Amino acid sequence: MKFFIDSADIQEIRMVSQLGLVDGVTTNPSLIAKSGRNRKEVLKEICEAVKGPISAEVNSLKSDEMYTEGMELAKIHDNIVIKVPMTEEGLVAVRRFSSEGIKTNVTLVFSALQALLVAKAGATMVSPFIGRLDDISTDGMKLIEDIVRIYDNYDFQTEILAASIRHPVHILQAALAGADICTVPYKTLKQIASHPLTDKGIEIFINDWKKSQNV
Ligand code: G3P
Repeated sequence: MKFFIDSADIQEIRMVSQLGLVDGVTTNPSLIAKSGRNRKEVLKEICEAVKGPISAEVNSLKSDEMYTEGMELAKIHDNIVIKVPMTEEGLVAVRRFSSEGIKTNVTLVFSALQALLVAKAGATMVSPFIGRLDDISTDGMKLIEDIVRIYDNYDFQTEILAASIRHPVHILQAALAGADICTVPYKTLKQIASHPLTDKGIEIFINDWKKSQNV
C-alpha cells in the first residue's frame, strides 16, 4: 500500500518525507486555503519535498475551464496530478487529460457507481471519501470494498486512493480491503508507527541491559 500525506503544510510534509513515510501528497482547496499561501508556490515546494504524485485540485466547474486550470497546474512540476471533482463535467475533463497522458485523481467520490464511471473515464486515481460517509452514519469502508471488487472484476487500472481518513483503523481496514493508496493526515500518520507495548518492551530491554553492564 502506498501512503500519501493529506496536507498542504510544507513543514508537516517535510517531516514525514524525511522519515521516508510518504510516497506522495494530496491537497485540496481547503488545505491550500489553510496553508495561507499562494497555491502555485506551495505546490512547487511540495513537489520539491516529496518525489511522488502530488495532487492539485482545480476549482473550476466547467470541463473546458477545468482543462485550462489543470494545464496551468501541470506546468508547476512533472509530478503534479490534476485533481478533479466527481461530476459529469469532471469526467469530460478527465477523458481529455487522459487522452493527453496527463495524470488525474477524481475526488469527492461517495458511491461505487461513481467510481465505476471514474475508471471508465481513464482516471489515474479515484478518491473515495471514507470519513465523510462515516460522519453521516454510513459505512465508508464498504465503499472501498465494493470499488476493489468492481475494479478487480473488470481489471480496471485506476488506483484506489482511500481518502478522508479519520484514524489508524481506517488505514488498517483500507489495507485489508485492498486499496492501492491511503492519504493520511499528519496527526494520523504519526500515530501508526508507535505502540505502548513496543515502548514498554524497549524500556525493559534497556533497563535489563544497563543492569547487566553493572555486574
Ligand atoms: O483531501 C481529500 C480528503 O482526504 C479530505 O477529506 O474529510 O478530511 O476533508 P476530509
